[in-house]
Amino acid sequence: MDEIIKNKNIYIQYNSNVFSNFSNKLFNIDYISKEGLIKSVMDGRGKALELEYGGKSYFLKHYIRGGFVAKISYDRYIFNSLASTRAVKEYNFLNTMNDKGLPVPKAAALQVITNRFTYKADLITCKIENEGTLYEFIKNNKMTKVLWNSLGTTIEKFYQENVYHSDLNAKNIIIDKDNNFFLLDFDNSYFFYDKKLFTKSMFRLERSLKKIKNYNHEIQNIVKKFSSL
Ligand SMILES: Nc1ncnc2c1ncn2[C@@H]1O[C@H](COP(=O)(O)OP(=O)(O)O)[C@@H](O)[C@H]1O
Ligand SMILES: [Mg+2]
Repeated sequence: MDEIIKNKNIYIQYNSNVFSNFSNKLFNIDYISKEGLIKSVMDGRGKALELEYGGKSYFLKHYIRGGFVAKISYDRYIFNSLASTRAVKEYNFLNTMNDKGLPVPKAAALQVITNRFTYKADLITCKIENEGTLYEFIKNNKMTKVLWNSLGTTIEKFYQENVYHSDLNAKNIIIDKDNNFFLLDFDNSYFFYDKKLFTKSMFRLERSLKKIKNYNHEIQNIVKKFSSL
C-alpha cells in the first residue's frame, strides 16, 4: 500500500508494507548521518547510501545529472508533473517489474522537492543481499560458466518483458549467494517498443565489461543472441 505525505513543496510517497515505522527524515542526510543510519557509501554514478533502519537495510539514491548539463545544474531537473519526475517514474517502473517477477529491487519510498520550475528527487529501495557487483566478480576472477549462464538467462527475462535499461553496466548488476543476478538503477529506463534499443543496451554492457581487468569476452555469446534483433 502506498502512502503519501505532502507538505508545501515536498512530496513523499512510501510503501507501508515495506516500513513498519516510516520516517520522512530518512531523506535527510544530516539526520541519517547523525543517527548513525548510514552503513556504507557506494561507488556508483552518484553516491548511493546504504541505510539501516528498523532492522532492515535500504539504499538511498539522490538523482544527479550526468554529462554536460551537470556543469549547469548538478541535481535539478525541469519540473512538469509529479508523474514525469525521475523518482516517480523509477518507483513505478520497479513496482511493475516486481509484479512481473523480474529480479529488481523493491521500491520503498521516494521524495520530490519542487522549487518553482525545477525539482530535486530521491529514491529508497530495499537492499538485495548480495555478494558483489558483476564488475567485482569479473575483476576478482569469481565468474564461472554457471554464473555467465545465469546472467544470460536473467538478461533474457528482461528482454521477454520488453525492459530497456538505459545504463546497463557491470556495476548495475549484482549477484547473490545462490548465483542469482539482479539489475539495478532504472533511472530513465522504460518498456521498449523497438528491439534495437535492447541490442544497444547489450553493446553498452559489453563495452563496460571490456574495461575490466580479467574479462575474457565471455559475454560475446549472450550479446550475439541479441545483436541481430
Ligand atoms: N537495492 C539495492 N540492493 C543492493 N545493492 C544496491 C541496491 N541499490 C544500489 N546498490 C548498490 O549501490 C551501487 C550504486 O547504486 P545505483 O542505484 O546504481 O546508483 P548510482 O549508480 O546512480 O550511484 C550499486 O552498484 C550497488 O552496488
Ligand atoms: Mg549505478
